[in-house]
Amino acid sequence: MILVTGGAGFIGANFVLDWFRQSDEAVLNVDKLTYAGNLGTLQSLQGNPKHVFARVDICDRAALDALFAEHKPRAVLHFAAESHVDRSIHGPADFVQTNVVGTFTLLEATRQYWNALPGAEKAAFRFLHVSTDEVFGSLSTTDPQFSETTPYAPNSPYSATKAGSDHLVRAYHHTYGLPVLTTNCSNNYGPYQFPEKLIPLMIANALAGKPLPVYGDGQNVRDWLYVGDHCSAIREVLARGQSGETYNVGGWNEKKNLEVVHTLCDLLDEMRPKAAGSYRDQITYVADRAGHDRRYAIDARKLERELGWKPAETFETGLRKTVLWYLDNHAWVAGVQSGEYQNWVAKHYAA
Ligand code: NAD
Ligand code: DAU
Repeated sequence: MILVTGGAGFIGANFVLDWFRQSDEAVLNVDKLTYAGNLGTLQSLQGNPKHVFARVDICDRAALDALFAEHKPRAVLHFAAESHVDRSIHGPADFVQTNVVGTFTLLEATRQYWNALPGAEKAAFRFLHVSTDEVFGSLSTTDPQFSETTPYAPNSPYSATKAGSDHLVRAYHHTYGLPVLTTNCSNNYGPYQFPEKLIPLMIANALAGKPLPVYGDGQNVRDWLYVGDHCSAIREVLARGQSGETYNVGGWNEKKNLEVVHTLCDLLDEMRPKAAGSYRDQITYVADRAGHDRRYAIDARKLERELGWKPAETFETGLRKTVLWYLDNHAWVAGVQSGEYQNWVAKHYAA
C-alpha cells in the first residue's frame, strides 16, 4: 500500500479519489483533520476496505511508527501542510510546527522504517514530497519562469516553512540515501478546494451576493493548474521519477488575478445569471496582502521531457468544470463554511 499524508485536504483527497479510479492498491490516509481536512470529501470511499483512514498528527512520532509497523507502505506521499499564505501571516506558528517539525518527524519515522526493509523493498521505496513554486520567491513580468535550478527565495512564513521542508527532504537523500522525490507545483484549482483560496472564495462569495475581495491592484500573476493534472503528475513522478530529483509542475496558464475573477464572473453570468446586472459588479478592491509575491510562473519542461507529462486541461476547460462542480455541490461548500471559517473571514476581511 501507499501512505498518503493530508489525504483529507484539497489536493490529497483529489489524489486519493483519482488513485482508486486508476489502481486497486490500498491507501493509508494519515490526516490530523485540521479546519482544512474534511472526511466528507472522501465519502464515496466509505466501506472500501482498501482505504484506511488514520486521524494522526504528522508531529506524533509514536503514532507514525505504529502505522509504519502495521501497514508497511511501499511509498510515502507527503501532502499534509498548513497551506494558506494569509493564515501564515496572521499566525505562523502552526506553519513551523506542521510544515517543518511535522515533515522532520515524518522523515525520521520513514528513515527508521526504510532502514529496516529488506534489500529489494528498500531499493524500490520512495518518499514523495509535495511542495510549491512559492519557495522560489517572486518574479517580475519579464523574468524567465522558475526552473528546478532557480535559487530558493521564499517570502512568506508559509513559503519559508515549505522551503525548510524541501531542504530537509533533500538532506535526508544526500546524508542518509533516503530515496526521495520532490515536486514544486503552481496554484491548483478544482473540486473540494477550501473556500479560503482565491477561486472557491470568489465563487462562494459571488453566489452569496457578497463582495469579491481583490487584493491590491489585482495584477499579481499566478500559474494555474487543474488539480487532476497535479495528481497525474504526482503519479508519474512516483512511478518513474529519479530518486533525489525535483520536478516542477505547472499548467502554462499565467493569469492576472483580476483576469481570473473576471472569467469566473462571466462563467457564473452564463451558468447562473443574476436577476439584474453581472457578478462583476460585486468586485471590491481591498488592502493588499503583506509581502504579496507579484508573479509565479513554472517551467515544467523537465517533467515533459523526462516523464512525458503534460496537463490535460486548459484554463478554460478546467475552470468551467470547477464552476460547474461548485454549482452542483453547494452542500459540500456549506458544510465546510463552519464556525471556524466564519471566524477566519471576520478576522481577515474585517478591515
Ligand atoms: P489543504 O490545506 O487543503 O490540506 C492540507 C491537509 O493536511 C488537510 O487535510 C489537513 O487536515 C492536513 N494536515 C494539516 N496539518 C497536519 C498535521 N500536522 N498532521 C496531519 N495532517 C495535517 O492543502 P492543499 O491545498 O491540499 O495542499 C496540499 C499540499 O500541496 C501542501 O503541502 C501544499 O503546500 C502543496 N501545494 C498546494 C498548492 C495549492 O495550490 N493548493 C500548490 C502547490 C503545492
Ligand atoms: O503557488 C502555489 C501556492 O498557491 C500554494 O503553495 C498554496 O498552498 C496555495 O494557497 C496558493 O497560494 P496563493 O497565495 O497564490 O493562493 P491564494 O488562492 O491564497 O491567492 C491567489 C492570488 O489571489 C494571490 O495573488 C492573492 C489573491 N487573492 C487571494 C484571496 C484569498 C485575492 O486577491 N483575494 C483574496 O481574497
